[in-house]
Amino acid sequence: MKKNSKENSQTLCIHSGGEPDPVYGAVMPPIYQTSTFTFKSAEQGGRRFAGKEKGYIYTRLGNPTINALENAVASLECGKYALATSTGMSAVSTIFFALCSAGDHIVASSALYGATRVFLENELQRFGITTTFVDTSRKKEVEKAFQKNTKILYIETPTNPTLRISDIKWCADYAHKHKAILAVDNTFLSPILQKPLLLGADIVLHSVTKFLNGHSDVVGGIIVFNDEDLKEKVSKTLKHLGGTMDPHQAYLVFRGIKTLALRVLSAQENARKVAKFLKNHKAVQKVIYPEFEKDPEIKKVIKKQMNGPGALISFELKGGFEAGKKLLNSVKIMTLAVSLGGVESLIQHPASMTHSGVKREERIKAGITDGLVRLSVGCESFEDLSEDLKRALEKV
Ligand SMILES: Cc1ncc(COP(=O)(O)O)c(C=O)c1O
Repeated sequence: MKKNSKENSQTLCIHSGGEPDPVYGAVMPPIYQTSTFTFKSAEQGGRRFAGKEKGYIYTRLGNPTINALENAVASLECGKYALATSTGMSAVSTIFFALCSAGDHIVASSALYGATRVFLENELQRFGITTTFVDTSRKKEVEKAFQKNTKILYIETPTNPTLRISDIKWCADYAHKHKAILAVDNTFLSPILQKPLLLGADIVLHSVTKFLNGHSDVVGGIIVFNDEDLKEKVSKTLKHLGGTMDPHQAYLVFRGIKTLALRVLSAQENARKVAKFLKNHKAVQKVIYPEFEKDPEIKKVIKKQMNGPGALISFELKGGFEAGKKLLNSVKIMTLAVSLGGVESLIQHPASMTHSGVKREERIKAGITDGLVRLSVGCESFEDLSEDLKRALEKV
């Protein structure tokens, strides 16, 4: 079984992370819903605080249920360590606060998740950390953007919502050559379809709110590493900022991961058919989906680093945003909501919703046009989804 194969991931989803419960042999990890852990003696408490004895102290610093989730995701991403966080944005912000100081510089994909872009642009700048946003799928743009003080190359691939693909291996090599690190937000594909650490990335992060949990009932994040020093640095800052996960949240995500491969592959099968359906529909102007990529260089990258095109589709209608609004208001099975990666199909309008915080001029430059609609295809039956779209598109 190949380490990066879908089959291997399918087994890991079901078996990794949880050791059988040492007390009763429970198959699933118990939910250790406790804020604190008692010590057998004052001496033991002291030893644990001094790091001389292994064991739990306080849930912000570590908890067995959270550790079970961290182990599961680390092994799915082919990493050694993982840190679970309260939200995806906590994972994003903690990385920068842990690894950058005033005077440092970041190079990032221009079409990032809206809040990540706004965080880099507005919040980090107040601390003297600057970011240059470029289309990281174009190597020349990355080379041009790098400065002597660039500490992190931060990419989403595919980007949210324009589905631009960056070459992870090239980005990692280029960052390392310039003494920077590569961090990859792998939320859109999940480790079932892409494993950035195997391609040289130093950090992989997720909004586990999306595919990893998969049931639209939890928010959370996770950061995965191979390098212990890097993990220690981020862990220290995470404990100080306080954006750690809660045990119940961790249990739900751990449970969701059991079916991650099944869900992702089923949603992807639907997405392939929905993308074709949209491409052939007369009301549709343009469909963005990795399988339709025309650029031969990017096609090669897709083949090299992705196990499949994923379940996200962006498209534009001939009637622009007005037509898009009618579509959003007319679908019945698809849910009009932000977020993605749940078992249900979700449809939204990035310009007025997820990316409304990004300045219009920057948004358009990043390819997020006023009429773009983003669809996260779920696991319903394709016949029902296409019927829903057909009915709604007739009203456009
Ligand atoms: C690609 C990506 N990264 C990060 C986040 C932030 O995650 P959260 O909403 O869990 O804080 C999102 C949220 O939509 C996202 O789509």
